Amino acid sequence: MDDSVITALFDAAAQVRLRAHAPYSGFAVGAALRADDGRVYTGCNVENAAYPSGTCAEQAAIAAMIAGGARKIEALAVVADGPRSVTPCGACRQRIREFASNSTQIHAGNLTGSRQHFSMSDLLPHSFGPEFLPQGS
Ligand code: THU
Repeated sequence: MDDSVITALFDAAAQVRLRAHAPYSGFAVGAALRADDGRVYTGCNVENAAYPSGTCAEQAAIAAMIAGGARKIEALAVVADGPRSVTPCGACRQRIREFASNSTQIHAGNLTGSRQHFSMSDLLPHSFGPEFLPQGS
């Protein structure tokens, strides 16, 4: 994927991160994904006073993609303000996997320019997905 597309995803993730609701952890996260319809969908983490009810930025971006009518993730970027690139949590790796291929790009970053680049299969090798189920595609 073109470097300019990756940069645009990081920019979109950093923008939506500013809208995160993270009063409990203080760790605001933004995610942006490019879907196979060519559009970029974004999401931020939304925490809750009942802590386990909070949702991750990647989860929100995926929900926006589904609501927007797309079904396939080509690339995703996630960013937070930490000392190192923020990589998707385990649950979000599985959520991304639902709409990814092994080669879907996952770009992790922080606000000071740290960048790490992975494929889906780097982050979730030998993963379980829809095609394992009888009704899967
Ligand atoms: N968080 C995300 O939004 N995405 C990740 O991949 C890592 C963690 C959020 C969840 C919680 O609101 C905060 O970051 C601290 O864990």
